[in-house]
Amino acid sequence: MAILKIAKMGHPVLGRVADPVTDPKAPEIQALIRDMIVTMHDANGAGLAAPQVHVPLRVVVYHAPAARSEDDEHDGHETAPLTVLINPEIEPIGDVTSTGWEGCLSVPGLRGEVTRSGHIRYRALNGEGEVVEGEASGFHARVIQHECDHLDGILYPQRMSDLRTLIFDSEVRHIIEADDTDDAEEEAAE
Ligand code: NI
Repeated sequence: MAILKIAKMGHPVLGRVADPVTDPKAPEIQALIRDMIVTMHDANGAGLAAPQVHVPLRVVVYHAPAARSEDDEHDGHETAPLTVLINPEIEPIGDVTSTGWEGCLSVPGLRGEVTRSGHIRYRALNGEGEVVEGEASGFHARVIQHECDHLDGILYPQRMSDLRTLIFDSEVRHIIEADDTDDAEEEAAE
């Protein structure tokens, strides 16, 4: 296992559409998944997509623990254990959106507010090559949408509707002081 180097905004690998994985059980894919997981944990990220480690394939890993979720109501779709999604497909369920803070290991030191679908359905292969399907909401849904965007060459600043909320982590305290809600303490997707 190895901790991999993370590509930063501006590297071409982050701007291209990643290719589907043809054989999830291939040794090089299994090794990639293992390395992505240790890299994500080492960087304290909530998620990581293969293009972020310079591999243009449709693989994401993430975990969405309760501590990172901003929603008070946990209906089982808000959190997720360590998850591997290969060739994921997502679609929104309903029109409800959610605005929350995101960060990205490829955009270090910054965070911004992004509006996402509040509830999604996803379908993918897991790390064993089996079909997995499910629904996600809240922080879980946000992480999946953020990571799947990486597979299409999209970084979260490109999803922002108000660039005034693109700020440095070191200035977040101003937002928290100005905002009575705890939204600003939301940990970001990566
Ligand atoms: Ni990211």
